[in-house]
Amino acid sequence: MTCGRSRSTLVSLALLAAATAAAEDLPQLGKSPTKDVVAAMTREEKASLVVGVGMRRPGMSADRQGPVVGETAKGVPGAAGTTVPISRLGIPAIVLADGPAGLRIAPKREGEARTYYCTAFPIETLLASSWDTDLVESVGRAMGNETREYGVDVLLGPALNTHRNPLGGRNFEYYSEDPLVSGRMAAAMVKGVQSQGVSTSPKHYVANDHEWNRNVIDVKVSERALREIYLRGFEIVVRDARPWTVMSSYNRVNGTYTSESPALLTGVLRDEWGFEGLVMTDWFGGRDAVAQVKAGNDLLMPGTARQKEALLAALESGALPEEVLDRNVARILEIIRRSPSFLGTPRSDAPDLQAHARVARDAAAQGMVLLRNEGGTLPLRAPAKLALFGNTSYAMITGGTGSGDVNEAYTISLVEGLKAAGFAVQGALADGYAAYIAEEEKKRPAPARPFQPKPPIPERVVGPDAIARAAREADAALFTLGRNSGEFRDRVREGDFDLTAVEKTLVQDLAAAFHARKKKVVVVLNIGGVIETASWRDTPDAILLAWQPGQESGHAIADVLAGKTPPSGRLATTFPIRWEDVPSSAGFPGKVLEGPDPNAPPGPFRGDRAAEVEYADDVFVGYRHFATRGVKTAYPFGYGLSYTRFDHSGLRLRSAEFRGQLEASVTVRNAGSAPGREVVQLYVSAPGKALPKPVLELRGFGKTKTLRPGEEETLSFTLTARDLASFDEATSSWRAEAGTYTVKIGASSEDIRQTATFALAADETVLPAPTRLVAADSYRLSVGGGQPGTGAPTAGAAFSITGRKELSR
Ligand code: BGC
Repeated sequence: MTCGRSRSTLVSLALLAAATAAAEDLPQLGKSPTKDVVAAMTREEKASLVVGVGMRRPGMSADRQGPVVGETAKGVPGAAGTTVPISRLGIPAIVLADGPAGLRIAPKREGEARTYYCTAFPIETLLASSWDTDLVESVGRAMGNETREYGVDVLLGPALNTHRNPLGGRNFEYYSEDPLVSGRMAAAMVKGVQSQGVSTSPKHYVANDHEWNRNVIDVKVSERALREIYLRGFEIVVRDARPWTVMSSYNRVNGTYTSESPALLTGVLRDEWGFEGLVMTDWFGGRDAVAQVKAGNDLLMPGTARQKEALLAALESGALPEEVLDRNVARILEIIRRSPSFLGTPRSDAPDLQAHARVARDAAAQGMVLLRNEGGTLPLRAPAKLALFGNTSYAMITGGTGSGDVNEAYTISLVEGLKAAGFAVQGALADGYAAYIAEEEKKRPAPARPFQPKPPIPERVVGPDAIARAAREADAALFTLGRNSGEFRDRVREGDFDLTAVEKTLVQDLAAAFHARKKKVVVVLNIGGVIETASWRDTPDAILLAWQPGQESGHAIADVLAGKTPPSGRLATTFPIRWEDVPSSAGFPGKVLEGPDPNAPPGPFRGDRAAEVEYADDVFVGYRHFATRGVKTAYPFGYGLSYTRFDHSGLRLRSAEFRGQLEASVTVRNAGSAPGREVVQLYVSAPGKALPKPVLELRGFGKTKTLRPGEEETLSFTLTARDLASFDEATSSWRAEAGTYTVKIGASSEDIRQTATFALAADETVLPAPTRLVAADSYRLSVGGGQPGTGAPTAGAAFSITGRKELSR
């Protein structure tokens, strides 16, 4: 009797058994030491892993298209990218998706009836205006939960570049002009998101503060300003919250692309700050894959065929030592090992969107800033009848455009929010706006490129009859003024920073008609960045800065207008009187360089031209400039009103002399008649003898709980030696000068309520910082004093970098 198996079957079985045995012998990620997994990888696999799977878009040139290996669409549609899986070594792909205001994935999938909407949380600028790190952490937890439940491993945020100029197109994605606020907000966000077992990617490291020519621009900045302003927020988030990844930026700093800078990526980030995760590029960022890998930019996203070829050729020629590539591969594997995709964390594809909407609504209300409230105009009392003006009263802007845009299921408009809060809305006006917006929407051209915003619908011109009728029928007027912006483009002054003629006229006409009947006018600012307010702010009775508050916009604004959530936001960025008053405006956005740029990335990059920008404002960014030079502001940093008022008292320093650290405490009392929360800001003035210093710098902040009238709370702060120090380029260290320091407790940078002094006995080196970011003899910097009170931009500031040197460690 034969057994019935043919010879060929037996051979196949034998081969299969041999293959299985071989596979069993292969190291597997997570089961074997990572170094063994790396050792088992081929060069081709290593090069594939450090280069993402690529991205395909219509019109994209062949060398930038993926996929290189593997596939991306099957993972999570609408995600920004994935890494290459290597199944024989047990290495799955991980999925990366934007972004700072919520998870960005496609809400619908082909052939499926169910949806994948995410929560649009308020923009980061609003979150920072809450000055409430617990609140931001709770937003992070909700965002992180959606990230995990939808099968994404890395959330590409938070973003923490600097509000250096009001026209920065992505300012809405960033927190503040101040690095302490940015760093602490970002740290809270990272802690919240990562508590859900997924990664974050603080971005864009570093000095990517404007959009103009962002892929090539060379930012010329002194090492001191880089350390004290632009790197400081990243330092805080890396040291305090340990993000698993960091995203390098598109731009160059002092001649070198950040993604190719060993000094920034290895010297500062890893050696000085102890970062242990992986660095990825921004999408298609940088120029030279080999230089990026060598510098410690571990992952090149989204990955191109050209990059992979370049790495393999450099391995072959010896230009890229294999152990350098191995180092980066190992870092990527460590992150993959911790990822939900590797751990097989179950995903529901059904996060609790209702619970997250409540988080979004509360956060939005807590971060709105009451700029003006004459004669107790606000809160409004339901069931008052309101006449709603402004397109955005009916079509709110929830957040900015580009990769930071979230695909949310719905937006609550202001009209819906007010009705739900029990207010009546003047119907004729609402009908007129609805018809106008529908008609204009049809005329709106599609955006020229993916990610680009459609041009805004022009503000509706409301005639005198409609205004007169509204003033007769309604109890008050509300005018919502909207602005939007996003990636690839900075904002402009005309009709964006400045109000349009139609907007200005409407404010005036509403005030005339409503004030004649002793009725109030309230302006709601639905904006993502700073605008001009000085020329019109005295006309309406109240101004609420609602920012771009996410999908619950209308509910959250109604909560604040009606006093259900008392306003407690404070500005984390200055509102200047004139754009020219901002010191960076003098050289904004930079200058195009003549002739071909040898350092430009290969091929035309969305029309970018070689360009540079000098950060001549040096450390005098935002209030550091306005306060030091005595330049008047429209609304200063830290400013915001409440429906009550607060007394600050009893500032106490633990000691009159600084020894290692110093405790300070101050008591806040609700001295008004409504509940509210106060933000306490602790500024320090340093002696400033050897180095020019801002007259005050924020070194701590805290927010009270909701205080009832008469209730008080004591807040405590600890000052460390670092809080006294400036970066001293001569010794490449943080140094604190001996002398008298003043602690200033303020309700804003211009409203100091309590002061106390302490002494530092001797000069002190607080922290050495061995990485040189600009060769010491390669630039000359002198920052003059400006002209107090004139608003002259950085008068007297001179800055130049003469001759470039390689950044070194
Ligand atoms: C943006 C990043 C974003 C990436 C992926 C880039 O254009 O600058 O912030 O994370 O795209 O979408």
